[in-house]
Amino acid sequence: MLLWPLLLLLTAAGVQSDWLSIDMPSYAYEGDEVVVKCSGERNNRISTLTYYKDGSLLATYHNLSSYTISNARPSDSGSYSCEANRKFFFVYKTEKTRSVWLTVQDLFPPPTLTIRPIEGSSVTVSCDTRLPWNRSDTQLHYSFFRDDHTLISNGSSSEFQIPAIGKGDSGYYWCEVATTSHSVSKQGQRSHVLVQRVPVSGVFLETQPQGGQALAGEPLVLVCSVAEGTGDIAFSWHREDTGEHLGRKQQRSQRAELEIPAVGESHMGRYYCTADNGHGLARSGALNVTVRAPASRPVLTLRVPGTRAVVGDVMELHCEAHRGSPPILYRFYYDDVFLGSRSATSGGGASFKLFLTAEHSGNYSCEADNGLGAQLSEAITLSVTGSKCIQSTCFGTPGWLSG
Ligand SMILES: *[C@@H]1O[C@H](CO)[C@@H](O)[C@H](O)[C@H]1NC(C)=O
Ligand SMILES: *[C@@H]1O[C@H](CO)[C@@H](O)[C@H](O)[C@H]1NC(C)=O
Ligand SMILES: *[C@@H]1O[C@H](CO)[C@@H](O)[C@H](O)[C@H]1NC(C)=O
Ligand SMILES: *[C@@H]1O[C@H](CO)[C@@H](O)[C@H](O)[C@H]1NC(C)=O
Ligand SMILES: *[C@@H]1O[C@H](CO)[C@@H](O)[C@H](O)[C@H]1NC(C)=O
Repeated sequence: MLLWPLLLLLTAAGVQSDWLSIDMPSYAYEGDEVVVKCSGERNNRISTLTYYKDGSLLATYHNLSSYTISNARPSDSGSYSCEANRKFFFVYKTEKTRSVWLTVQDLFPPPTLTIRPIEGSSVTVSCDTRLPWNRSDTQLHYSFFRDDHTLISNGSSSEFQIPAIGKGDSGYYWCEVATTSHSVSKQGQRSHVLVQRVPVSGVFLETQPQGGQALAGEPLVLVCSVAEGTGDIAFSWHREDTGEHLGRKQQRSQRAELEIPAVGESHMGRYYCTADNGHGLARSGALNVTVRAPASRPVLTLRVPGTRAVVGDVMELHCEAHRGSPPILYRFYYDDVFLGSRSATSGGGASFKLFLTAEHSGNYSCEADNGLGAQLSEAITLSVTGSKCIQSTCFGTPGWLSG
């Protein structure tokens, strides 16, 4: 009975011993699992294990359990130790370990959101944080929010783009970075974005094919663009010469197209376009649209002074394509021999004069060419009869005059 006071004395004092040891890391990152393990030389003698942090009790086990911090936080940093009660023959003895200091570091700082404009009115929103080099292979998920809307949820990219930012994109933007398991998740500060509408300016009309030159029957695209201007833009196409309104398109883009599926001569004229995003209308310069058509098959006519072609006459060969864009080059042929050519810069065709000799019977033809494909006329057969003598001089040698 006298032993009891002694036992109680021993228990209260505690003994730091080599018998009991503590095993745990000194450094961890938040989100890590940290195991604090206490064990003794002869574990079977341990009846209770008590874990402490900064002197306060964490847990008491009646077996050999270790203490686990499953998702470490910086607040778990501190001094850890444990205490074991073991049976020493018939008395209970208390052993205490040394203290081990645990530092739980931030895996990454809260992200910072940056909004950078890229060409035109598009922006890149990026959510940046930093991983320590010894954890650089940690996979992260990025979520982006505007006010209460989720823009991107758990994406693998730290950036996203808003293609054409408009007034409706104004608001508070923020992002969240998390590990894939969501053991660590951090939000960044909110940043306010106010999208102001930029009035339209630098309205420009161009065509495809370029320069307003179109081929009859082919499509022509009228492209209206603005150098600056945001939001929904209403584009309109007009003809300056006729006052005609050709079309209107409203889109959230700095560029719009209007197509004429098959151009004809009626489409020749002066065009312009306008753009308006509600902050004043702006107009482009005028553009001439010219429609080039290939020459049609020309018609050859032969004109002689009398009713028949007689040696000594000056014959006029007239060639005319009724359709086709000038300038047209007319070529004249006699029995497939090239006689000469004439260019016509306006309609009405072209003429060529030939001084007829007896050898000039045969087939005549002409060709019209404006660079879009040459067209040959039908042949005309001519027979030159007799001879023409003026004051006893008869013309018998071939020769031609220029027109
Ligand atoms: C990671 O590296 C840093 C710097 O070298 C070091 O201080 C830290 O203890 C390491 N952390 C872990 C958990 O290994
Ligand atoms: C120890 O006991 C606790 C309950 O007190 C139990 O949850 C745990 O699994 C036990 N551990 C071992 C290693 O037996
Ligand atoms: C991302 O995934 C986690 C876990 O699956 C979920 O709890 C969280 O709500 C998700 N985040 C968003 C923005 O959807
Ligand atoms: C466009 O055509 C008009 C006549 O229709 C002419 O006066 C003007 O010089 C032309 N402009 C260009 C750039 O060719
Ligand atoms: C002229 O054309 C006709 C009919 O196309 C043909 O029969 C004749 O042989 C041609 N004459 C010459 C000289 O080529």
